[in-house]
Amino acid sequence: MSASATAHDLAIVRTVADLRRRVAAFRGEGKTIGLVPTMGALHEGHVSLVHGAIARGDVPITSIFVNPTQFGPNEDFAAYPRDEEGDFAKLREAGCRIAFAPTKDEMYPGEQLTTVSVKGVTDGLCGPLRPGHFDGVATVVSKLLLMAMPDRAYFGEKDYQQLQVIKCMVHDLAMPFEIVGMPTVREADGLAMSSRNRYMSAEERGRATALYRELNNVAKAVRNGTPATEATDLASKALLASGFDRIEYLSVVDATSLRPVEMVSGPARVVAATRLGRTRLIDNIPA
Ligand code: PAJ
Repeated sequence: MSASATAHDLAIVRTVADLRRRVAAFRGEGKTIGLVPTMGALHEGHVSLVHGAIARGDVPITSIFVNPTQFGPNEDFAAYPRDEEGDFAKLREAGCRIAFAPTKDEMYPGEQLTTVSVKGVTDGLCGPLRPGHFDGVATVVSKLLLMAMPDRAYFGEKDYQQLQVIKCMVHDLAMPFEIVGMPTVREADGLAMSSRNRYMSAEERGRATALYRELNNVAKAVRNGTPATEATDLASKALLASGFDRIEYLSVVDATSLRPVEMVSGPARVVAATRLGRTRLIDNIPA
């Protein structure tokens, strides 16, 4: 795939007008468009979404925008890693055709009085812990979708609640885009790849592998009929014993509604948010 993929140039696009012009040109050639929204600091997880778009025959467009409205006042907006040149190099290598990297003013010109807000699937998990976060995500993703007007948009299961929020939004607002969820890409020891992993010290990085191990322990236990809270209590204790500083949540939820389930009978997900030093680590797997 890479030989033909690297035969094309990556256009670096800063304005919505330029993006629309280029998308129209691709459409004129009969091509379909696949959008990969990101906040940059790209890793193999992001790149897998670009490959997903290529595999489905879409012209891949990756947006890079560290969206201020989805960070809380005490979160890491200022510290969030930024590496445009490195990102462009990875996108070129992956066969991406457009990197859409708008300024804040291009994304949010003038006063912005409209917010897209999804209820229900945001009631639990990261919703109450990060007030306003999913409104920020839903609003910026709406804007990115309407700017690029893709056929499909690709999101990682790594951010499982976000994926459900976007699916719900697209369904409820009858947005004409297919949302494709892609599997989580992991390091060799199981740690889910994340732009925030670089916040960890080498020592913390060693301990971080316990998260994936414990998610698997919970999944195995509930599949064997153990009540969810029993399994998650045990796993929480094991994580704290492995040097995690805090468990924000560790639960088993319905795979669509994200409501807690005690005895697993249908599609379910083991989901967790934790703190290891100053790093917030989230992960999830099927139950
Ligand atoms: P970001 O954290 O940069 O993630 C961009 C996309 O990459 C998301 O769909 C995320 O789920 C996916 N991703 C991250 N790590 C992954 C991994 N290890 N395996 C597979 N996919 C992975 O999520 C956001 O940005 C923002 O909230 C955004 C949707 C761009 C809105 O601002």
